[in-house]
Amino acid sequence: MTIEIIPTGAAAGAEIRGVDLSQDLDDATFAAIEDAYNQRGVIFFRDQTITPPQQVEFSRRFGEIEYNIFSERWSVTGSPEIVVVSNITENGAPIGIKRAGENWHSDMCYTARPPRGTMLHAIEIPDLFGLPLGDTEFASAAAAWDALPDTLRSRIENRHATFDFTGRKRAFPPKQSEIDRNPPVCHPIVRTHPFTGRKCLYVMRDDCTAIEGMEQAEADLLIAALADHIVKPQFIYRHQWRVGDVLMWDNCTVQHRAVQDYDMPQRRLMHRTTMGGSVPV
Ligand code: OGA
Ligand code: MN
Repeated sequence: MTIEIIPTGAAAGAEIRGVDLSQDLDDATFAAIEDAYNQRGVIFFRDQTITPPQQVEFSRRFGEIEYNIFSERWSVTGSPEIVVVSNITENGAPIGIKRAGENWHSDMCYTARPPRGTMLHAIEIPDLFGLPLGDTEFASAAAAWDALPDTLRSRIENRHATFDFTGRKRAFPPKQSEIDRNPPVCHPIVRTHPFTGRKCLYVMRDDCTAIEGMEQAEADLLIAALADHIVKPQFIYRHQWRVGDVLMWDNCTVQHRAVQDYDMPQRRLMHRTTMGGSVPV
């Protein structure tokens, strides 16, 4: 295999060519993939045909599989590590989590050790007369940090925020047991990427409810302003899906959101895995 890494031209993202994820990857190929992933925050492979166990095996090379609040409800038969993300209903029941991540977020930031990244394998992509719908947008929180003036940087560096599981309205309301399992946690709002050392803003609306040692009114202003700053057009890569795409993002480097511009009978079906990470520093 000859691996080729083609940056998207946006602030995040690279396409990786010359790799067949259904085959065993040698260490050199994997190292090149992992490096592109760390550097670009989002990587994707087109035209992949992989089974659920192959997706799980590839995911595991990046970190242990994490289970989230959707895993219990919507996993793939025989592969409990994979969550179905879909708007499809069969026999009156949804086969997966619908409208996952409609608003800007970083996955499971409300946990003490948020996942390193998340992977989606596109099985069905909605379209309107051939125009693909249901894109996913990614915003580089690293580029957003780089663009901040020193005056604001010094105000927020070394600060911590409260991340509250109940702050965000979810597509599927969590059970009380899930709320109890996820008490508020504290994370730095400027993270250092564990592999590249790049600084990344780690602030989102609704999840971040307070900044330690700061008046609530000022904290609210800062959270809103920083959350808006991260998602400015110059920091965004918008992925237009094709069936067979395998795409993964890094939850420290980028935030993401699902564009909800489709509905049944336009079907969307993704297989999702989540890779364990480290405590944010
Ligand atoms: C997710 C998510 C976005 C999408 O699975 O965590 O935010 O476009 N998905 O499906
Ligand atoms: Mn998400």
